[in-house]
Amino acid sequence: MRHLIDPMDLSVEEIDRLIEVADDIILNGKKYRDSCRYKKLATLFFEPSTRTRLSFEAAMLELGGSILGFSSADSSSASKGESVGDTIKVVSGYADIIAMRHPKEGAPLAASLKSSVPVINAGDGGHNHPTQTLTDIMTIHREKGRLHDLTIGFCGDLKFGRTVHSLIKAMSRYDNIHFIMISPEELQLPEYIIRDVFEKKGIPYRDVRTMEEVMPELDILYMTRVQRERFFNEADYIRLKDSFILDEKKLVTAKKDLSIMHPLPRVNEISTKVDDDPRACYFRQTLYGKYIRMALILSLLEVDVDED
Ligand code: CP
Repeated sequence: MRHLIDPMDLSVEEIDRLIEVADDIILNGKKYRDSCRYKKLATLFFEPSTRTRLSFEAAMLELGGSILGFSSADSSSASKGESVGDTIKVVSGYADIIAMRHPKEGAPLAASLKSSVPVINAGDGGHNHPTQTLTDIMTIHREKGRLHDLTIGFCGDLKFGRTVHSLIKAMSRYDNIHFIMISPEELQLPEYIIRDVFEKKGIPYRDVRTMEEVMPELDILYMTRVQRERFFNEADYIRLKDSFILDEKKLVTAKKDLSIMHPLPRVNEISTKVDDDPRACYFRQTLYGKYIRMALILSLLEVDVDED
């Protein structure tokens, strides 16, 4: 039995295979529509979500399976003091696979140790979000046609942004990726990512304070939200929340084939006027997330879909 807790739980070859299946689902969706009949996915979300929870549920329904779960800690017995371990022991008797989001870093790992079915980390605090990483890699594959020889600018909240941390780790395994960090000083990448990913592997990276100075170099601009829920101090959030706002003017010097990504939700860090620019792929990104999650569910449930 496999779980997915950290993006590095999957090898590059396994990610390639998931992408292959997701590409095939896009082309031949009908082939997969009964592949998870009688299987149940539980979505246990102790923190709010739109995309991750609903794309997991849509993925299982499109595979012919069923869904159950809760969308907030308040509507579960966690509000009465039940531990994550007890919740998982119970739910693994009701479902064949579990997707879980929790505000505490490490909670999905702790859950996986008590579970008798595969557990997928759907985001744990500021730590990891491996299925967003799969979504992002699928998006890069679909939009750029390659996962190597790319200059990627990560912009915004690089300190608390778990999607950034996970994607940097995952992309560090591909050839000739240039990483550029664009953030205010207070929201710089945590030291442990710099040490464990860039320094340990000898991967060069740059750290800049404005997106304008690097815009012409970028193949991908990965925008992120300044996350109010991760700040201890409201004054700091208010001071930093509008640090980086992407608008049409800032895109004047960008490459014609730049891909603008964002895990969403957006607050105001990308002007809505940018949405109609063909380089904006953040809404397409949400759809790729459903297909790669379908591929992941099939893989973790070890379902073989017959070739016609
Ligand atoms: N990208 C992402 O995790 O979105 P949700 O918080 O809506 O799931």
